[in-house]
Amino acid sequence: MLVTIADVLKPDELAHIRGVLERTTWVDGRVTAGDQAAKVKNNLQVPIDSPAAQELGQIILSALSRNSQFMSAVLPLRVLPPMFNRYDTGMTFGAHVDGSIRSLPGSGQRLRTDVSSTLFLTPPEDYDGGELVVHDTYGTHSIKLPAGHLVVYPGTSMHSVTPVTRGSRWASFFWSQSMVRDDWQRHMLYELDNSIRSVRSRLADDDHAVVGLTAHYHNMLRHWAET
Ligand code: NI
Repeated sequence: MLVTIADVLKPDELAHIRGVLERTTWVDGRVTAGDQAAKVKNNLQVPIDSPAAQELGQIILSALSRNSQFMSAVLPLRVLPPMFNRYDTGMTFGAHVDGSIRSLPGSGQRLRTDVSSTLFLTPPEDYDGGELVVHDTYGTHSIKLPAGHLVVYPGTSMHSVTPVTRGSRWASFFWSQSMVRDDWQRHMLYELDNSIRSVRSRLADDDHAVVGLTAHYHNMLRHWAET
């Protein structure tokens, strides 16, 4: 399931993040890539342990925690610290699947990358190319979102970033381990949650249908969730 989420960042958060990134140091993005991905990767990143990455990562994590659509679509158990990348003109990232297991910095705790996320930080009119292309069972999706908007997609998906032909594309990217590892189960829970929200907007919260559907949602989640 691929979900786009609008306005994850407030305008002042976006402006602050872009301001810090303008003053920070970028390094070759291959440092965090596995062997296969490193051969097709050509971009820049902010070092994961730099003060800038840590400060900006916290802003993004708190924005995610207040976003009910992200919570519903991802059902996150753990989210890795957000990272930051940049594709200047001519840079690209060929087809790859993200590594399945990553370590949480500091703790060494391992995390399974069930869901990949890209948070766009550059307005689309400021660059050409740089589309995130995600291949899933329903075909190929080409994604370029307004700054501050997020896309989440299954970590199992083959994906790439097309060459930037004008300007520079900045983004944050990160992985989540979900309480529900199976993408189809997550998809069903997300659809059910959206339907319940729609029903709740028309019926009272103590209406029999609302109570029953909400109970059903939580019993499905209880059945499938690993915490
Ligand atoms: Ni990737």
